[in-house]
Amino acid sequence: MRRELKGDLQGVPGTCAIAKTGCVVYLSSMATAILGTSGDALSFSPEANPYETDRLLNEYLLFHYGEPGEVLPHASGPADALGYPVRCVSECVDVSRLPAGARALDLGCAVGRSTFELARHCAEAVGIDFSQRFVGAAETIRTLGSLAYQRLEEGSLTTELVALRPPGVDPARVAFEAGDAMHLREDLGVFDVVLMANLIDRLRQPLLCLSRLAALVRAGGQLVVTSPYTWLEDYTPRENWLGGVAREEGRPVRTLDGLREALGSDFQLERTLDLPFLIREHARKYQWSVAQASVWTRRS
Ligand SMILES: C[S@@+](CC[C@H](N)C(=O)[O-])C[C@H]1O[C@@H](n2cnc3c(N)ncnc32)[C@H](O)[C@@H]1O
Repeated sequence: MRRELKGDLQGVPGTCAIAKTGCVVYLSSMATAILGTSGDALSFSPEANPYETDRLLNEYLLFHYGEPGEVLPHASGPADALGYPVRCVSECVDVSRLPAGARALDLGCAVGRSTFELARHCAEAVGIDFSQRFVGAAETIRTLGSLAYQRLEEGSLTTELVALRPPGVDPARVAFEAGDAMHLREDLGVFDVVLMANLIDRLRQPLLCLSRLAALVRAGGQLVVTSPYTWLEDYTPRENWLGGVAREEGRPVRTLDGLREALGSDFQLERTLDLPFLIREHARKYQWSVAQASVWTRRS
């Protein structure tokens, strides 16, 4: 939904909209909670976390909630890469296997679109992310139904858009909370489906997160891991990369090999698929990536 062209990105009315809801108070208490539970979630100081910036908050709101024409008005662009947070659910989760009253977990949910999509099929969908601002934005969309944000056009020119809660989703089924995927609270319970979209290569210790999954997914339940495997030392020390490295005698190890090694005793790999996605930086610059999704079933 488009409003008008503005000339001052610094104003970032999207973030003002968050402040107007009163979420700032909620967020500052969450910050204390997060920092109290884990000091090793990030390779940089919390203040330098890119996922707390205006730029990424606005980019992710567009990525998750933008209409196709708002994200990609160029006819020659890769339209099949649109709607990624929706496709992570519609193309990867086998909804016919979900029991009545199913519970879903979206780890690294960002601003929450996949969590809402999981709630179409599950009685409860929990979204957890380390970014206080992302979780605050998701919670505003859940409770108020909309959130204004800024789409960057060129230089400091922006257009105000509005992220809308996806129609047909009961917000009472959805819960967002701030948390660290490597140090999740113990009382989360067990889930019928866990989604980790584009998270593993943003964690300092991905194995620590993966090691908790056997306890989080019920026997026969589904695990979906998607990632473009963009390993960067800014986020993950090289010795913790799951793949993209040469091991003994120069043998190349792919991330899917690393996932098999980490998950194989508790999960069966059902299938893999390519999921292209498109993140719009500004009117004439995009990141086009192809994530690999691996779909797993928890062994009995
Ligand atoms: C590349 S984004 C992907 C977000 C979303 N799943 C998607 O596909 O659009 C990575 C997300 O992981 C979150 N994140 C990074 N480290 C985390 C951690 N230790 N625990 C939970 N979330 C984390 C970031 O805040 C960010 O929202």
